[in-house]
Amino acid sequence: MTPHLRLGVNIDHVATIRNARGGDHPDPWRAVQVVEAAGGDGITVHLREDRRHIRDADLDVLMARTTLPINLEMAATEEMLEIALRHKPHAACIVPEKREERTTEGGLDAAGLHNHLAPMIARLNDAGIRVSLFIEPDARQIDAAIRLKAPVVELHTGRYAHCEGAELATELRRISDAAALAARNGIEPHAGHGLTFDNVGPIAAIPQLRELNIGHFLIGEAIFIGLDASIREMRARMDAARG
Ligand code: PXP
Repeated sequence: MTPHLRLGVNIDHVATIRNARGGDHPDPWRAVQVVEAAGGDGITVHLREDRRHIRDADLDVLMARTTLPINLEMAATEEMLEIALRHKPHAACIVPEKREERTTEGGLDAAGLHNHLAPMIARLNDAGIRVSLFIEPDARQIDAAIRLKAPVVELHTGRYAHCEGAELATELRRISDAAALAARNGIEPHAGHGLTFDNVGPIAAIPQLRELNIGHFLIGEAIFIGLDASIREMRARMDAARG
């Protein structure tokens, strides 16, 4: 039987809307409670260097209150490593981070950054934090993740989400090949970025994938149908694709 595909809900953009007015509404903690009630399997937050969405105090609150596993997306910096080691979230997903980008634009160069990442991953592994590397779906990056002893990779679906026509099949194949390669080597494959109701199906159908992390679309759609309905509909589409 195909294993359960977890849905991690990225609530960063609840904080983005809050921060636009500088107050405390909408409250990310309230969003977490909705995720819990709607059957989400985890909470993902990206504490960026510029704190443009989630802030340190949000992380304190979420860590103290939710029973859902927290997946902390973080740049490979000393500052973020210290924060992760202090909070000990369930998982830490290392992402590339450029100050000027609007969102995480490409995968981490796990191969090129081996020497920088190796001690960081070792410290996170030693602390019992499940390390994930956010990488492009290609064999070179999976090989690097194996050498780095990362237990999880998250495959960047951004290119898949933004292409069309013949390219779509090529991208989907790249993601499914990468998921299969990771799984064959004992690495748990996850995926995320740019996923929507319309494009999640073919990704959710990849049997080796164990988790999808989805944020911007779910929070955007919540404006029209509510966060609870948005999460439940995504869950239903994932389940339908999984068969
Ligand atoms: N996974 C990772 C590693 C990300 O950086 C992001 C965006 O913060 C997501 C998943 C979610 O992407 P989206 O907001 O486009 O659903």
